[in-house]
Amino acid sequence: MVKMILNTDIKKGIINKNIYGHFAEHLGRCIYEGIWVGEDSQIPNIKGFRTDVVEALRKIKIPVLRWPGGCFADEYHWMDGIGPKEKRPCMVNTHWGGVVENNHFGTHEFLEFCQLIGAEPYICGNVGSGTVQEMQQWVEYITFDGKSPMADLRRVNGKDEPWSLKYFGVGNENWGCGGNMRAEYYADQYKRYATYVRNFGDNKIYKIAGGASVDDYHWTEVLMREAGKQMDGLSLHYYTRISKDWSKQGSATEFKENEWFSVLQNAFYMEELVNRHATIMDKYDPEKKVGLIVDEWGTWFAVEPGTNPGFLYQQNTLRDAIVAAVHFNIFNNHCDRVQMANIAQMINVLQAVILTEGQKMLLTPTYHIFDMYKVHHGARLLSMEFESPDYALGGDKISQISVSSSQDKEGKIHISICNLSPWQDADIDIDIRGFAPRYATGSIITSHEINAKNTFDAPNNLVIKCLEGIGLVNNHVVGKLPPKSVVMLEIV
Ligand code: AHR
Repeated sequence: MVKMILNTDIKKGIINKNIYGHFAEHLGRCIYEGIWVGEDSQIPNIKGFRTDVVEALRKIKIPVLRWPGGCFADEYHWMDGIGPKEKRPCMVNTHWGGVVENNHFGTHEFLEFCQLIGAEPYICGNVGSGTVQEMQQWVEYITFDGKSPMADLRRVNGKDEPWSLKYFGVGNENWGCGGNMRAEYYADQYKRYATYVRNFGDNKIYKIAGGASVDDYHWTEVLMREAGKQMDGLSLHYYTRISKDWSKQGSATEFKENEWFSVLQNAFYMEELVNRHATIMDKYDPEKKVGLIVDEWGTWFAVEPGTNPGFLYQQNTLRDAIVAAVHFNIFNNHCDRVQMANIAQMINVLQAVILTEGQKMLLTPTYHIFDMYKVHHGARLLSMEFESPDYALGGDKISQISVSSSQDKEGKIHISICNLSPWQDADIDIDIRGFAPRYATGSIITSHEINAKNTFDAPNNLVIKCLEGIGLVNNHVVGKLPPKSVVMLEIV
């Protein structure tokens, strides 16, 4: 029996809905085919954007979308992506498959897409191969209301009114594909570029500095020390894999319990990363003004057999769903510092929420976790005490249970619980304190197979179902969580 105490009198911070953000890069079939098919396509579209994708994304209430990369961002020159499409120059996408990028999806298309799906745009600027002037002009083009060369150019291209743009990243992975810089050098570059990312009129930009890779704590230390006062957010990238050794890729769908275990163990590593980066941030920013922005996270496996290795196309199983749920529990529980997170990536790339094949589209198990967890958006984190049993394999062990809980504006309590064991039930008994529950209901994602997935022929193999057998006994919620499941309880 797992005994838990939920104390609604101990109120914690607000879970920023941006924790449920997404990332779309010019990589493989994410933008082209996944989002943009063009107005003349046979695939039903709204002004060139796939209708089925727009509808599916609206349902999960995506709060924020990062674009255009990733590594692509530091070789993207935004002026190539404006004006009449037939006149836009082509470029080579050197990072991702060496394919030709025709720039048909540019600034206007991205910002229109964000409006269509109801997401705030988060643009990542080019520090690695771009100029300060180019970055300055991009912000002016998008947000300046008055008369200026860039605002006039925007008007020539058919947009009179400026857009509002809140989130702007000053480079991406500048320790690697974004320029191979040292932390000390990037900190100076960050300050120089960020100076010219201007606030025009009422548009106030939240500036995000390029952050550390995984456990590069030196990077966070230097950035916070040298530039902490000039930034609103500092990013962090970490991908969950079967091993820390990048030569061991692992299959997204064909795996045994050992790789189920290692992937979940590596998902939990996010907790240590958040804790340790946050501790460094606390030293320079005890008031927690600077957000930790985990703007790339998710699983990274070998590409689907027969697909372009540069396109990073992978399938998605129940294991990915649990990885996503574990991450959200960690981010929710650290909402005092984690202000945004962006799954990599939205469509057809890495841990995608949607896969497409021509006219067909499917929602992955990860999509359903985003759907299930949307009740936590903007809710107040609650205090939950419990001791998890272990899930052990081969002499190693991790927690069997991962949890986070919140109370929304209407007073409803939501408890999200993952049972990571592939074979062991978890009997739970949650003592609800400071609240008189009237009833409890639950929904669940699970399967008999650890590698269950949705396919174009069987797209509803894994969906959210109603959880049976959850009950209220006095002020206790009691029930059984099946193995390998993610459950959302609602207590009213
Ligand atoms: O998401 C794929 C790539 O992973 C991104 O372009 C880069 O930032 C990271 O290394």
